[in-house]
Amino acid sequence: MHAESDPDAIDPLIGKMRAAAAPFRRTLQELHRSYAGLFDGAVATYIPELALADPSWFGISVATADGLVFEIGDSGRPFSIQSISKPFVFGMAIQDHGRDQVLRRVGVEPTGEAFNSIVLDEATNRPFNPMVNAGAIATTDLIEGADAGERFKRLLAMFRRFTGRDIHIDNAVFLSERITGHRNRAIAHLMRNFGMVGDRFEESLELYFQQCSILVTCRDLAIMGATLANGGQNPLTGETALEPQYVKDVLSIMLSCGMYDFAGEWAYRTGLPAKSGVSGGIVAVVPGVAGIGVYSPLLDPKGNSVRGIRVCQDLSRKFGLHAFEARFSGPSFHDECHPPRRGT
Ligand code: DON
Repeated sequence: MHAESDPDAIDPLIGKMRAAAAPFRRTLQELHRSYAGLFDGAVATYIPELALADPSWFGISVATADGLVFEIGDSGRPFSIQSISKPFVFGMAIQDHGRDQVLRRVGVEPTGEAFNSIVLDEATNRPFNPMVNAGAIATTDLIEGADAGERFKRLLAMFRRFTGRDIHIDNAVFLSERITGHRNRAIAHLMRNFGMVGDRFEESLELYFQQCSILVTCRDLAIMGATLANGGQNPLTGETALEPQYVKDVLSIMLSCGMYDFAGEWAYRTGLPAKSGVSGGIVAVVPGVAGIGVYSPLLDPKGNSVRGIRVCQDLSRKFGLHAFEARFSGPSFHDECHPPRRGT
């Protein structure tokens, strides 16, 4: 069901604000129309369950740091979060242990390598950063809990604070990845050899597969991004999902490493902290302003959503969202989302 055609799906307050923010909705409609016919790329198949996605699925959502949510297309269609989970788990690990302890297990250096590269830093034996699979597994290994169940419940509770709603895992995706996850098992054993993961690393690998199988929508991604844009506080619920002092750790890693071996071009052209996932999601953050969520399962050779990249690049260019934009003279993202009320 497209959110646009289902007024009951939209909170009455947002419904009223939508009427006031027509220009921005039109912008999203135009973007969706521009790329709905783009079928470059391929759906991921190395996790068999992901191959079931329909290449035409395409949703866009933007959530502002003060709680407005705009959405178009398949914005309510659930998909597994996959690697988009990684920056949020990184933030949780730092909150659990502090920066110094986490950085003993994982670096913060972009590798220019693919997300599944089996590469450790020769000088420290650490995985290079928490966005590649090796670094993510090492980060998940740091999630505290008395047993596997408590660790899983803590992790899910963190994601629920970011999305502002009850979420669950897709068990079919979890089982599909657990059965085929040989490369990640090899990475985990290599890191155990170098002490980058602890004795419970096999339990942590299961937890990593579970975190990647969490079901979200691109509306959820936009709200998660808006929560980071809002200093770690969910703008819809007011709940703190991440302590403010750790938000910069997450955003800086997303900007430098979030798009893997496309991170350099992404930083140059889009200039926003972002994270992609092999299901076809992308979350991007405009610090202090908004979160952007895009979902479309067609991926480029580097594992990033083709339509997702185009949408984020267009929004960045149209509204001057690039982190290093100088004195942008075009339309303001904030003003288009919050047009003056009639008569003011
Ligand atoms: O571990 C894996 O390979 C997947 N669960 C996640 C990889 C992923 O999402 C890469 N992002 N583009």
